[in-house]
Amino acid sequence: MPTAFAEFAAVVKALAPRTAVVLGSGLGGVTSRFVESASVSFADTPGLVPTTVHGHRGRFAVGEWAGVPALILFGRLHFYEGHPWKVVTSTIRAAADLGVSSLVLTNAAGGIHDSLSPGGLMAIRGHILLTGPTAWRDYQVQRPYSSRLTRRLVEHDMLAGVYAALTGPCYETPAEIRALKALGADAVGMSTAKEAECAEGLGLEVAAISCITNKAAGLGGETLDHAEVLANAKLAVERLEGILVDVISAPP
Ligand code: HPA
Repeated sequence: MPTAFAEFAAVVKALAPRTAVVLGSGLGGVTSRFVESASVSFADTPGLVPTTVHGHRGRFAVGEWAGVPALILFGRLHFYEGHPWKVVTSTIRAAADLGVSSLVLTNAAGGIHDSLSPGGLMAIRGHILLTGPTAWRDYQVQRPYSSRLTRRLVEHDMLAGVYAALTGPCYETPAEIRALKALGADAVGMSTAKEAECAEGLGLEVAAISCITNKAAGLGGETLDHAEVLANAKLAVERLEGILVDVISAPP
């Protein structure tokens, strides 16, 4: 085991965080009340690979978030970076190995539901995984999300909706968004669903929040790009921090 990781794991053991939080694209700034004790890059973590996406730093940090012990994953690995799903979910297995019992996933997403505009938040109550070759024929809404934690999110006055997970890397076409709306999707993105399923399979209690960075293709009139997604992710950051701190404080 590399020393950097062994040292990090020892600090995690001492602080014993109950929850891990994955911070998605442009959301690293939500941690103004996080006091970090130790950190390790994905590259230095056994079984993981470094991340390649701008806006994702790719590291684990442990410390106290507004006084609550927490393990934070700054960044994640994506299928569109060329990783197989097993690598995409390796961060979740690593978090579980570090001893957490719950996981809160965040992501940047395009809003499909009429009420979702840039800066808005959505609690994910279910997802439609549209990443496999026959996904559009055999789709189902999956619900690996804890109803207890989702209720806690909804108390913060946000829609509880369905997230459509696509592989990326391109944003969708307006026709694809109309199809996703017809399937019942409220927001669309390129992450989270497989991580949530992996975590549930490992026995973790899972919650997830989408930060709406744009209206989905064809609904807002503008062309989408990654720079806009990163800039708009900042709109929700202040509100998001309070919500994440509340969720990680939820009694087990
Ligand atoms: N589509 C897919 N992924 C996204 C979007 C989008 O509109 N916005 C942020 N991530």
